[in-house]
Amino acid sequence: MYSSFPLHRARRTRNNNAFRNLVRENHLSIQDLIYPLFIIEGHNQKIEIASMPGCFRLTIDLLLKEIAEAVKLGIQHIAIFPVIPNENKSESADEAYNPNGLTQTAIKEIKNNFPEICLITDIALDPYTIHGHDGICDSKGNILNDQTVEILCKMAIVQAEAGADIVAPSDMMDGRVYSIRQALDKAGFQDTLILSYSAKYASSFYGPFRDALNSHLNSNLQFGDKKTYQMDIANAKEAEKEILHDEAEGADMVMVKPGLAYLDIVYRASQITTLPIIVYSVSGEYSMIKAAAQNGWLNEKQIVLESMIAFKRAGASGIITYFAKDIARYLTD
Ligand code: PBG
Repeated sequence: MYSSFPLHRARRTRNNNAFRNLVRENHLSIQDLIYPLFIIEGHNQKIEIASMPGCFRLTIDLLLKEIAEAVKLGIQHIAIFPVIPNENKSESADEAYNPNGLTQTAIKEIKNNFPEICLITDIALDPYTIHGHDGICDSKGNILNDQTVEILCKMAIVQAEAGADIVAPSDMMDGRVYSIRQALDKAGFQDTLILSYSAKYASSFYGPFRDALNSHLNSNLQFGDKKTYQMDIANAKEAEKEILHDEAEGADMVMVKPGLAYLDIVYRASQITTLPIIVYSVSGEYSMIKAAAQNGWLNEKQIVLESMIAFKRAGASGIITYFAKDIARYLTD
């Protein structure tokens, strides 16, 4: 029936590097990367996170050095996460909006030293509450949504005042994007962006991060779990609902988190929103790759680059990854 067999030779465009380069559909660049860093109080301290080899909790002086190194490698985006000493935690999480607190001080220092850096700051109460939940609780341990949102708004304003370029609510309270947008606008921060963690799942892939915040070993929580606010890992349509709500509430970008196990969600997001999608390749993803690589079971460079291109292929514009510096080196070598 065919004049020649096979009719199509898909392998033709794979035959050499030049062909493959010409027809490649997705590309990874250093500009796609967001480098997350953990900050601690004090001076000249660098404490490795046991479950995340190669990742450190840094005092602000050393944080600046780390950022200088990242900038030299071409990284333009930094996300910071504070590790708050227990004495500054409370039921009401007041430290979250202390203009002179660790986060705000770090923001000012970073922007003074690296005005061109795009700085993304976290909005959630978990570093600041005694119990480690992302919101404040009543006496029965219920998370109080609307009261929490009020505090998140205060946080957004102090972070914007300190110089944050993008505030990123990771708390999963309802209505927070709308409220934060209103609060920022009223305070004169119309140009501060909101990156909403829209589809953030109640995932066990965050284990090493909670270890990094060194609150209560791996569970990070004094009671309960985060399932009343973070999404059910079994749901996908609900992620679309969350994303559309955040878009309507005024988010500038949306996030899907975790990354690798949630590529279907990244893809769905790309089909339903015109907003840029950021994917958070979380601590557990980093630790799994590191552990396997350290055992010689996987090629770290290849696995990391393959994971990153998978995020791009699924529809992500940007990727938060603890491998950011390594990737920047891979891409320049
Ligand atoms: C908390 C927060 C978490 C992460 C980022 N912000 C953990 C959690 O929700 O308990 C996880 C990041 C990671 O695992 O790399 N607001």
